[in-house]
Amino acid sequence: MRILLIASAYNGLCQRVHVELVDRGYEVSITLSLGDDAVRKAIALFQPDLIICPFLKEKLPEDVWREHLCIILHPGIMGDRGPSSLDWAIMRQESEWGVTALKAVEEMDAGDIWSTLNFPMREATKASLYRREVTRAAVQAILTTIDRFASKAYTPEPLDYSREDVRGELRPLMKQDVRAIDWSTDTVATIIRKINAADSAPGVLDMLYGEEYFLYGAHAEDVLRGRRPGEVIAQRHGAICRAAVDGAVWISHLRKRDTPEKQPFLKRLIQSRKTPTFKLPAAMLLGDKLAVIKESPIDLPYMGKEQTYCEIWYEESNKVGYLHFNFHNGAMGTEQCQRLQQAYLAVRSRDIKVLVLMGGTDFWSNGIHLNWIEAADDPARESWRNINAIDDVVREIITTDSLLTVSAIAGSAGAGGVMMTLAADQVWARKGVILNPHYKTMGLYGSEYWTYLLPKRVGPGRALELTETPLPLGMKKAKAIGLVDEVLPEETGAYQAEVRKMAEALAASSDYQELLEKKRAQRAHDEAIKPLESYRAAELQHMRANFAGQFYGGDVNYHEARYNFVHKIRPKETACYLAQHLKLDFARLSELRQPLAY
Ligand code: COA
Repeated sequence: MRILLIASAYNGLCQRVHVELVDRGYEVSITLSLGDDAVRKAIALFQPDLIICPFLKEKLPEDVWREHLCIILHPGIMGDRGPSSLDWAIMRQESEWGVTALKAVEEMDAGDIWSTLNFPMREATKASLYRREVTRAAVQAILTTIDRFASKAYTPEPLDYSREDVRGELRPLMKQDVRAIDWSTDTVATIIRKINAADSAPGVLDMLYGEEYFLYGAHAEDVLRGRRPGEVIAQRHGAICRAAVDGAVWISHLRKRDTPEKQPFLKRLIQSRKTPTFKLPAAMLLGDKLAVIKESPIDLPYMGKEQTYCEIWYEESNKVGYLHFNFHNGAMGTEQCQRLQQAYLAVRSRDIKVLVLMGGTDFWSNGIHLNWIEAADDPARESWRNINAIDDVVREIITTDSLLTVSAIAGSAGAGGVMMTLAADQVWARKGVILNPHYKTMGLYGSEYWTYLLPKRVGPGRALELTETPLPLGMKKAKAIGLVDEVLPEETGAYQAEVRKMAEALAASSDYQELLEKKRAQRAHDEAIKPLESYRAAELQHMRANFAGQFYGGDVNYHEARYNFVHKIRPKETACYLAQHLKLDFARLSELRQPLAY
């Protein structure tokens, strides 16, 4: 079956659907919805049997949904309609939510229902729910829809609000007046809920030091208290802590509101040069305004039980240590890498036999911090500091010879973050994880000792294939090619239980000492053949050139690619490695060409 995916962006959900469909042998092509004609052209060239829109913000052209069956994936329960589905579900404290696959029709989300699936809600940000529960249910709903479509015997159900099981309703776009925090009355729980419902976009608009910012990354605080609700009472590692009527809440990130369109262009330009309008750690954006606010210290890693803001924390049981590093969006800035290195060294010397690198909840790691770099006075210099800081962490993991290490990947990982997972002795991943083991879309050669780690696991040919074609990798293929050792259950509770069971079994295994000896011997052998530092030196030579503005293969310039990524500038066309239909276009073109006369 030929399936065309139409999406607003090739986001995590779209990547996952793509991988799952290819794994099942479907012929898949993708087009971004970059105008009606691009969509029509993709359909004309690919001639799909079915069109699926896993993440679509734009309207499909009428002739397209009238002439083809187009399935829209809506992140809401049956009957739910509108553009702020999850936002309302969080705000209204729904205990259960869902996804629905429905036919595209004139009215938004009102078409016949092909499949629907519910899941229990979790206290988390909208983006986190989307990346885990919604994505998992969406894949199931899409696969069921495809089976039903293929059977030719299934009649989709019309939306019927008189049915008892149709609980959803049409809800409007959630505006900032609904999201607004009233610091004089809102409790910590309400503030966190409001920010969660708007995180990662659009954020909750609020005032700080007389200026407008969108708030992101809310965390409860158990100990610190302030007198005036809303006032900033502490800062830590870039986050700010604000007093509330019944406690205090940390806010990790802010985004400055764009200067309104009605302001003169020059004023807007000057303003955007002065203050970046993309997401940054709160303290980085507020700068001098926080001069009198004290940095609130915390142990590194944090091992306490109180709720507070900590990116790096540690737990231990039965000779196994678990090091969590939950960096916002998986991006690891220079100082974050330095803190991680410090925490890693501290826990490595404890009386444990296995150290599990847990990464973060939604992402294990996405490599260097592109937003911090973009905001730096000298982005090339900051890129250099950042890549060296992350390399230092990776080196410590590779050269650990006192215990066994495991990377346990619950969230997805990209670029240097994937290479960093490979530094551990074993790599275990949750089913459903998506890895992007390449740097090419960012115009980088890459470092993190990837030239040592990747070929060692998958062989040089496969290493080249993975890094040269910037495609996402699902766990089925990752296991088959040896990039990961074990694939664990997708459901979070079952995944966590399995990680602990396996790590404790490894620590208690009768061949533990033998495994440790083997690892030491292998490292010594590898070092004798080629010192670890020469891999790094060669990689960094390429990276230095990239940071200086030189292109790495293809036509992607790092500074331009980073600017576009951070400012969320959409590509002008769908990348050719996704748009299979464009390959058909070329093939047909060459078929039609006249033979060359010699
Ligand atoms: N630095 C800063 N922010 C990053 C980041 C990075 N390295 N990687 C991801 N993010 C942010 C995104 O801007 C986005 O922010 P927002 O949701 O708060 O607006 C969020 O993380 C999620 O990323 P998104 O791209 O929407 O997720 P995805 O699942 O669709 O795609 C990746 C995942 C890894 C393919 C993609 O995020 C990516 O290409 N990241 C850059 C990787 C990279 O080149 N790193 C530098 C070289 S080591």
